[in-house]
Amino acid sequence: MILDRVKPLDAIIAAAEKKSLKRTLSGFQLMLFGIGCIIGTGIFVLTAAGAQKAGPGLMLSFVIAGSVCVVAALCYAEIASTVPVSGSAYTYTYATMGEFLAWTVGWGLVLEYAVAGAAVSVGWSGYFVGTILNEFMGVHLPAYLSAGPLALGGAEGGFINLPALVIALLITSLLVIGTSESATVNAVLVAIKVAALTAFIGLTLTSAYFDLDRFNPFLPAGIFGGLGTGLGVVGAAATIFFAYVGFDAVSTAAEETKNPQRNVPFGIVGSLLVCTVFYVLVAAGAIGTIGGQPIMGPDGIPFPAGSEELARQCAMPEYGEALVCSNEALAHVLRQIGFSGIGNALGIAAFLALPSVILVLLFAQTRIFFVMSRDGLLPEVLSRVHPKWHTPHVVTIATGIVVAVAAAFFPVGQLADIANAGTLYAFMMVAVAVMLLRKQRPDVPRGFTVSGLWFIGPATVFGTIFLFINLPTAAMLVLPIWTVIGLVVYLGYSRSRSHLGLGIVEVVDDVAGEETMVPIHPPKED
Ligand code: ALA
Repeated sequence: MILDRVKPLDAIIAAAEKKSLKRTLSGFQLMLFGIGCIIGTGIFVLTAAGAQKAGPGLMLSFVIAGSVCVVAALCYAEIASTVPVSGSAYTYTYATMGEFLAWTVGWGLVLEYAVAGAAVSVGWSGYFVGTILNEFMGVHLPAYLSAGPLALGGAEGGFINLPALVIALLITSLLVIGTSESATVNAVLVAIKVAALTAFIGLTLTSAYFDLDRFNPFLPAGIFGGLGTGLGVVGAAATIFFAYVGFDAVSTAAEETKNPQRNVPFGIVGSLLVCTVFYVLVAAGAIGTIGGQPIMGPDGIPFPAGSEELARQCAMPEYGEALVCSNEALAHVLRQIGFSGIGNALGIAAFLALPSVILVLLFAQTRIFFVMSRDGLLPEVLSRVHPKWHTPHVVTIATGIVVAVAAAFFPVGQLADIANAGTLYAFMMVAVAVMLLRKQRPDVPRGFTVSGLWFIGPATVFGTIFLFINLPTAAMLVLPIWTVIGLVVYLGYSRSRSHLGLGIVEVVDDVAGEETMVPIHPPKED
């Protein structure tokens, strides 16, 4: 029976206890950490794609996506404080629903972390080309070197996004030599990002260009743009959900938080609320000053974001300055309303801060692969640790190359949608896992318990499915296709080599951490 192998929770917890981390984080620090992981390409770049999908209704899209994230984050926090080991949703599923479903989650998380890493690399490229090369160095990188074949601007002959490729490889090399982000660097980058967004909000909302008429029509593509189209308020919500991705990292820090029952929800809900308020105000400022109406096709339906048709329209003089056509949306808005210097400073902020988001995402990806490899589900070579740098260099290099290639050839919006599909699946499974665990193992101590789980859990399942079905069809299809490929790999390779299947449970808390091998013993029946 394919659903038979469940990793004994007691073994996982026993291994984690051996190496439990000190509780040092305050609620506020947790919130800063969250904001550091969350703010990135989503707001700095995808605001343009979001406006093309929903027009001014994008403000509502941010609220919808943020609400789904709050409930999902609470589920994450409970399970992370119960099963505090690396491997995230993959490990939680292994301990509750068994190896097969855990495999599908681990496989799906590739879409979250690796593809999201590629998306942020492309977002960074937009600011690097626009602000650093164009504005400061006066270098105009031709479109065929600064955009993938399908990217916005592709109609001008995009071939490869060279800066995106380079940044992904650069971050990979940092990870290979063991760079991880320190709390101080994170705090500085959070301050830079928050200062940039605050300046943007202050300048746009008080600008003489701000005009409420620009919010009219408020819903040019409706609330529901139609299933599979990715349009309308909910379609934009499914895309800009990306702007919140990364908060799961906060939940995994639950273990290191003082007084987790109070501070974890404060940190998670706090960071998501702060980001939601910022995002809505940024959208209001951008749309209120330069307008954010979608460019409509002949049938009165917006052209798909990232499409060639849209790129052709954007190349026409009448749309040249439109928000929906910009690769560096926020800097573009400030330049348009007479704040070129501050627009460029915001461009530099994005240039400095986005690489740390790539770092966190790629780091998370390599650790998931690492744990899956140590479980025997992926080749052992992937969990080889470098003798000098003590990093899983093989898996890091392999992941980095794939991410760099994806970043070089795909447009940011499509990458973000694909990343969202995998992330939504993982979040849904986490919600199911947390509910199952409450039923199966009420005895296990939990650092943090969600109150109202029987509302929050189902709300997460509903919210994730709702956003998923509002993605564009192509992005939605990637998940089942990717899962079928994963199924072939699982049945053809992993199942017969699984350590659990071979009778050993191996739990490793991190790359340098202690390894614990325990014989299988059934979970306690209580
Ligand atoms: N939330 C992160 C970003 O927007 C992934 O870049």
